[in-house]
Amino acid sequence: MKIALLSRNPNLYSSRRLIEAAEAKGHEVQVIDVLRAYMNITSHKPSIHYKGEELDNFDVVIPRIGASVTFYGAAILRQFEMMGVFPLNESVAITRSRDKLRSLQLLSREGIGLPVTGYASKPDDIKDMIKMVGGAPLVIKLLEGTQGIGVVLAETQKAAESVIEGFMGVKANILVQEYISEANGADIRCFVIGGKVVASIKRQAAKGEFRSNIHRGGTAEVIRITPEERSTVVRAAKIMGLNVAGVDILRSNHGPVVMEVNSSPGLEGIEKATGKDIAGMIIEYCEKSSKPGKTATRGKG
Ligand SMILES: Nc1ncnc2c1ncn2[C@@H]1O[C@H](COP(=O)(O)OP(=O)(O)OP(=O)(O)O)[C@@H](O)[C@H]1O
Ligand SMILES: [Mg+2]
Repeated sequence: MKIALLSRNPNLYSSRRLIEAAEAKGHEVQVIDVLRAYMNITSHKPSIHYKGEELDNFDVVIPRIGASVTFYGAAILRQFEMMGVFPLNESVAITRSRDKLRSLQLLSREGIGLPVTGYASKPDDIKDMIKMVGGAPLVIKLLEGTQGIGVVLAETQKAAESVIEGFMGVKANILVQEYISEANGADIRCFVIGGKVVASIKRQAAKGEFRSNIHRGGTAEVIRITPEERSTVVRAAKIMGLNVAGVDILRSNHGPVVMEVNSSPGLEGIEKATGKDIAGMIIEYCEKSSKPGKTATRGKG
């Protein structure tokens, strides 16, 4: 197969591993920096150009689109889809999952377990919203945050009110969420490929910290998940329309709750903790799925 890897940096662990795994299986990989790709949106003959050359004859496109280039990256990926190239994850699914609020709404519609979550715009509504989500302690999250930055635990009603007021004052979009204290600072990252959980790791927060992000000092180890967790995770990926996803869950005393569904899950943490060849599994999934005409939407929607 001829594979286009959309990545701004081929030296990142995940990109390197995907290239390695594809080449080991006899495939050809071209790394494409999406910001250097440009497109011709002509009737019936969509094309993509890259550094002066037309991109052609790809069988598969693997998007590794960073959060900061979602808009442009999704447009380039959509163009590949319209040319009939099989995308590992489709552009619509990536755009959907990048919007945390929209994702939670879609998951809630399908009855997936979630932390009770509120969203409001005006400071006048803070007190009632806090009541609505069950009162302090509460987790307050910046919608645009990553790596645990912008995720705050407010232990008292007063703290919650002032943190929310502060964020609203600087016009930041925030979610207000039930604090799952029984998770004891641990979350579980489940790696899904083609409707199956292929690996799961537990990330444990450092002492005195509730956020389990590795960037915040968390540590990772292999964990076995329960059948209920497995079915929740697989359904969550399916609802988002993602073939490959990193689904983060917390163990709450009302069952597994989904925190997030990530469309470009990193490979480093999960491969190093489990010793599994996740990159190889992704390439095998592409081999199985990239038959011509298998692109479900071809950029529609
Ligand atoms: N409602 C909650 N109850 C308990 N712990 C939580 C809750 N929400 C988040 N956490 C902890 O905080 C960490 C960071 O939260 P979250 O994953 O939502 O934000 P992020 O990592 O900054 O964003 P992203 O995952 O999009 O990069 C989680 O991994 C989890 O350990
Ligand atoms: Mg996270």
